[in-house]
Amino acid sequence: MNLIKSITELRNRRALVQKGGGDAAIEKQLAMGKLTARERILAVVDKGSFTEYDLFVEHQARDFNMDKKVLHGDGVIIGTGTIQGEPVCVFAQDFTVAGGSLGLMHARKIAKIMDHALKMRVPLIGINDSGGARIQEGVNSLAGYGEIFYRNTMASGVIPQISVILGPCAGGAVYSPALTDFVFVVDKISKMFITGPSVIETVLGEKIEMEELGGARVHAEITGNAHFFAHSEQQCFEQIKRLLSFLPRANDAKPLKTKPKEPKFAKKIEEIIPSDPKQPYDVRDIIRAVVDESDFFEVQELWASNIVIGFGRINGESVGFVANQPLVLAGVLDCDSSDKAARFIRFCDAFNIPIVTFEDMPGYLPGVDQEHAGVIRHGAKILYAYSEATVPKITVILRKAYGGGYIAMNSRHLGADFNFAWPSAEIAVMGPEGAANIIFKKEIDEAQNPEEMRKQKVAEYKEKFANPYVAASKGYIDSVIEPSETRHLLIHALAGSANKVDHRPAKKHGIPPF
Ligand code: HXC
Repeated sequence: MNLIKSITELRNRRALVQKGGGDAAIEKQLAMGKLTARERILAVVDKGSFTEYDLFVEHQARDFNMDKKVLHGDGVIIGTGTIQGEPVCVFAQDFTVAGGSLGLMHARKIAKIMDHALKMRVPLIGINDSGGARIQEGVNSLAGYGEIFYRNTMASGVIPQISVILGPCAGGAVYSPALTDFVFVVDKISKMFITGPSVIETVLGEKIEMEELGGARVHAEITGNAHFFAHSEQQCFEQIKRLLSFLPRANDAKPLKTKPKEPKFAKKIEEIIPSDPKQPYDVRDIIRAVVDESDFFEVQELWASNIVIGFGRINGESVGFVANQPLVLAGVLDCDSSDKAARFIRFCDAFNIPIVTFEDMPGYLPGVDQEHAGVIRHGAKILYAYSEATVPKITVILRKAYGGGYIAMNSRHLGADFNFAWPSAEIAVMGPEGAANIIFKKEIDEAQNPEEMRKQKVAEYKEKFANPYVAASKGYIDSVIEPSETRHLLIHALAGSANKVDHRPAKKHGIPPF
């Protein structure tokens, strides 16, 4: 065949395979409000940057009439592209081809692009839209998942891994996203569950809608499996691009620096915290008051909101923020907020992103529910994560730093590099009321006017401990600062930490309280 003819044949073959499951299946996909796999990839990568691999791979299954079925691309598209000019690897499952189900060759394609991403040290984006293990391929499908999970684990902490759930993600399929760093979901489109409604009905006799079982809101608000919630696929792709702008290509690189810009937050930073120490406020305003352009990109906004985590820039440098949120449960640490913060701290540490902690919290949440849910085990994760992290670590105590919370929120004692406190800081074993009731119980009980005595003792305790100066006198706080000095000091601290070296004892790996 001459070259011109063979080029025509290639074009025809490409056009056929790129149709995926064909017109009817594509129509069904679009009718569900979903884009096709190919449209999704093209929407997320830079225009004209996508190069596809393994377009002509075919399945090799023979049982259950599979030998008579053509599954274009075996139901998954893989390739490379760029986002904001930076290279990425991507795969997208094509639900129009056998429901995006995962057979042997489908899995091999995903494994190939994962290997490529790891070797080239570039982020991996996986778009999931699949009925799970391809039932006709039996153990080969299960093997395929295993190969993917293994690669997710090998790549963990080396390259950023992003999972996007844009359809069903059922059965074992959920565990690849769960092993990755960030999971994106879209309202009404994403469905994630181990066991589907029909199996639940058969086994447990319970009827449940897919949305209620594992819809986007469920994972963004209740389970914490999802990190980003969007109202449309397009919004989701914008979120992915925004996230990547804060991250390095891999763990041997630093995030790209941008041009420094001043915050544009309207309120003065010292006016954000109410004068009454019992009044809450939104700690995100404090973050917005110190980051470039007041641009804060929150992670897991809808789950465990008593702690706030996310990315921003200080003088052009990407920074991870961890902050107690007085608006929700007074910002206490509990099982979920400890898990949320600990995982984020470990991500920042793995990818050379300095961590800034804003502290205002009354301690760990008391109560039978929390104790029985394992607040000891979960709470330990945050201690472990901060202690283990070797990136620059800066803490600013804004107001309350009570009890275990004082230690847990990146105290000097866990290896923080800079510990600042605002003059409003109260650093104590517990809140003044609780403390006075315990240590002055006898005096209060025996007083002629117990209520008056109690007030006096609370004031005495506050005077002695509920301020930053006792901790500062011992060197636990490096500097008591004015709120308006915060951004300047963060810039100074980060600039001075650029070459930080902090060694850990040699070991195979630690054993965090998972
Ligand atoms: C093979 C599958 C499939 C699968 C869907 N299809 N799931 N083929 N294996 N797992 C096919 C359908 O036969 C159909 O083919 C096409 O994909 C579209 O599926 P529909 O059911 O028509 O679509 P819809 O009504 O939108 O329902 C989607 C769905 C449903 C909710 C995902 O298909 C479903 O419940 N699938 C099974 C989900 C599940 O339980 N998976 C777990 C598998 S076990 P045609 O030819 O008609 O177009 C597992 C364990 C792995 O994953 C463990 C690893 C550790």
